[in-house]
Amino acid sequence: MNNVPTRYLGELAVSAQGLGCMGMSHGYGATDDAQSIATLQHALDLGVTFLDTADFYGAGHNEELIGRAVAGRRDEVVLATKFGFANRLGEPTRVRGDAAYVRQACEASLRRLGVDHIDLYYQHRVDPQVPIEETVGAMAELVREGKVRHLGLSEAGAPTIRRAHAVHPIAALQSEWSLWTRDLEAEIAPVCRELGIGLVPFSPLGRGFLTGRYNSVEGLEESDVRRGQPRFADGNLERNLAIVARLNELAAAKGVTAGQLALAWMQYRGDDVVPIPGTRRRQYLEENLAALDVELSGEDLAAIEAAAPPDQVAGTRYDATSLSFVNG
Ligand SMILES: NC(=O)c1ccc[n+]([C@@H]2O[C@H](COP(=O)([O-])OP(=O)(O)OC[C@H]3O[C@@H](n4cnc5c(N)ncnc54)[C@H](OP(=O)(O)O)[C@@H]3O)[C@@H](O)[C@H]2O)c1
Repeated sequence: MNNVPTRYLGELAVSAQGLGCMGMSHGYGATDDAQSIATLQHALDLGVTFLDTADFYGAGHNEELIGRAVAGRRDEVVLATKFGFANRLGEPTRVRGDAAYVRQACEASLRRLGVDHIDLYYQHRVDPQVPIEETVGAMAELVREGKVRHLGLSEAGAPTIRRAHAVHPIAALQSEWSLWTRDLEAEIAPVCRELGIGLVPFSPLGRGFLTGRYNSVEGLEESDVRRGQPRFADGNLERNLAIVARLNELAAAKGVTAGQLALAWMQYRGDDVVPIPGTRRRQYLEENLAALDVELSGEDLAAIEAAAPPDQVAGTRYDATSLSFVNG
């Protein structure tokens, strides 16, 4: 057990790959708690100790599920959760970052997780109505009280990251980053690196698309949010499949899967990068973890990037409403 390398997000030690738990409660169709708990426990057995959740996922269900899965093993786990969406999935988006809300959200997450502290507490989206100094000030209070160990932001823009870090050290920025979403490389990642903030790419498998598993949305359940995402829409999906076909070819030549290639590329972005691929299944967990052993040469990296040029990705990563809340 536990031969997964360690990486650091600021001063927080985590396994070099985390496990995204969102799909176990939310977004990607029907869920199965028994299967999810088995996957979570298998992750810990294999040395994946960095679990990613949020109060928003399944309106609290995901945190409760994780609480159940890690009961009795709290010391083995780095628990990361988030606050900020005050609406439920499917309702109009409402982001809150006021001090009273931060405290109330944290207390509720601690209760659902069944723990006395959260290792990494992220603001899920920046509240445009509340100065980041107020939000991070309230988060810093939680650190002083021992309820939270490290602070993070998600989808924050560069100026916000600087202002936040001036109030209290930020350990990690969690934002979408993968072979088909590279927006943060120009400005945001360099600011994080200057400030010593670790990078946690979410949806590193392009919501599963980069694994080559989806040729159409037909197989997705009605409730699957990907049905409404521009990159899965008619016309765009077909063009994006051309990227996956090229990744599949490169992966086959190396004797790995396209998903493993996408994760290995991600891991080669730097020692401060800790992707959190999401899965509900033990089999995918093992496959994703094996990506840590995939070695890529400079030539491989260039070929992978040539296979997925950002200007050939069809469709934005979110719809217009969700996009208005990123880079805040
Ligand atoms: N901060 C934010 O705003 C934000 C937004 C989105 C996500 N996140 C976090 O990031 C985590 C990961 O993102 P994500 O789940 O959206 O996307 P992802 O990791 O890019 O992809 C997840 C999808 O890929 C499938 N998958 C995983 N491994 C696979 C494999 N080896 N072969 C075939 N399919 C595979 C999963 O299927 P199964 O589920 O069927 O196993 C799931 O449908 C989430 O769980 C969540 O914790 C954060």
